[in-house]
Amino acid sequence: MANLAHTTGIETTSEKTEADTGAKATSATSGFIPSLVPREDFPILARQIHGKPLVFLDSTASAQKPRQVLDAMDAFNRTTYANIHRGAYTLSEEATAAYEGARKKVARFINARSVREVIWTRNTTESINLVAHTWADANLHPGDTILITEMEHHSNIVPWQLAAARTGAALRYVPITDDGELDMAAFDQLIERHPPRLVAVTQMSNVLGTLPPVGEIIAKAHAAGALVLLDAAQSVPHTAVDVRALGCDFLAFSAHKMLGPSGIGVLWGRRELLDAMPPFLGGGDMIRDVSLQHSTWADLPWKFEAGTPAITEAVGFGAAVDYLSALGMANVRAHEHALAAYALERLAAIPDLRIYGPPADRRGGVVSFTLGDIHAHDLATLLDREGIAIRAGHHCAQPLMERYQLAATARASFYVYTTSAEIDALAAALEQARSIFAF
Ligand SMILES: Cc1ncc(COP(=O)(O)O)c(C=O)c1O
Repeated sequence: MANLAHTTGIETTSEKTEADTGAKATSATSGFIPSLVPREDFPILARQIHGKPLVFLDSTASAQKPRQVLDAMDAFNRTTYANIHRGAYTLSEEATAAYEGARKKVARFINARSVREVIWTRNTTESINLVAHTWADANLHPGDTILITEMEHHSNIVPWQLAAARTGAALRYVPITDDGELDMAAFDQLIERHPPRLVAVTQMSNVLGTLPPVGEIIAKAHAAGALVLLDAAQSVPHTAVDVRALGCDFLAFSAHKMLGPSGIGVLWGRRELLDAMPPFLGGGDMIRDVSLQHSTWADLPWKFEAGTPAITEAVGFGAAVDYLSALGMANVRAHEHALAAYALERLAAIPDLRIYGPPADRRGGVVSFTLGDIHAHDLATLLDREGIAIRAGHHCAQPLMERYQLAATARASFYVYTTSAEIDALAAALEQARSIFAF
């Protein structure tokens, strides 16, 4: 493996400006970084694990929920719950208003042109599968190219493998550099040699924290005649995302990674594309009329929402969006940038610890690492005894791990409630693990 591992602290050679990242230039040594939110908002953070205060460093997998979200869901269930779009009775009308109100909040949060462009799904994975079935099956043919990257989560790989197998299109990959960034020279060559019909790319790697230059990717893909789908599972929760400013065509994300509940996610798409796409799943609520032989479809967004959806979860998602909006996404990004810079500096000081991915200015609040030859799962188990929750494994990105010949990494990730003291606790526990394994 070449120089993917950064063990020398923080580099500041980024070409990205502060405006690109939304981050303040925060020194990693400027002292204690407090939580961005009142920690009491998050009841679970008061838990003890093995007699130690919980240090939750796995928000990239799923974030914790503030009481504002928990209370909104509880109150809805206790006072307002009924099926939606169904009955002409007060409860159902109120439930429908709450459910559709949450959609409006999400539409505003990503600056969608119309609320009709926001399709509720179960999660990012289902959102990508929706496009990979409906758009891809209707538009791709043998000889076409779908272009993705080696950095993708399995959710943004497997649906395209299946779509390629069904349609005869070729699936091609943009490689990653040794430093954990997209190889943009290779991207340019691929676009020229095999002009794609669709480019599907993550806006932030869940393993390396890399923030690919999606503005440039969208401009070049569009110039080559391709549509662009952004896997925004790790971007919408952590930074301001404006679909109109970005100019992408599809965007997929999940509520459970942004302080909301599991079971609900979003596919945003440009209206004319969604209008032209056939339905995904068939059933109740997505139809206009059904006869024995034939059906017609409901308007957007309901055309893509078959069956009883995650109603209470939509209300919780709306509350999560309110909570993040009140914080301000530029502040969320700045907080995580400061934590990432601090973590890179703290962890780089531990002998035998290798950090993967770009410097803090070009990454989100995620740090993947290995410590000597301790298996990542053993490390996670040892840290758990100290009350510290981190992720270990391939992080649903096996092609990425293969690229760097890694079986597994440990991963610490940060969110609005994370403090630098928790990163100190992580560093101390890693030092302890190192002494247990006595290199
Ligand atoms: C970059 C990325 N894409 C997609 C997903 C899949 O999200 P979900 O499991 O909510 O569908 C994840 C989850 O970790 C992710 O990090």
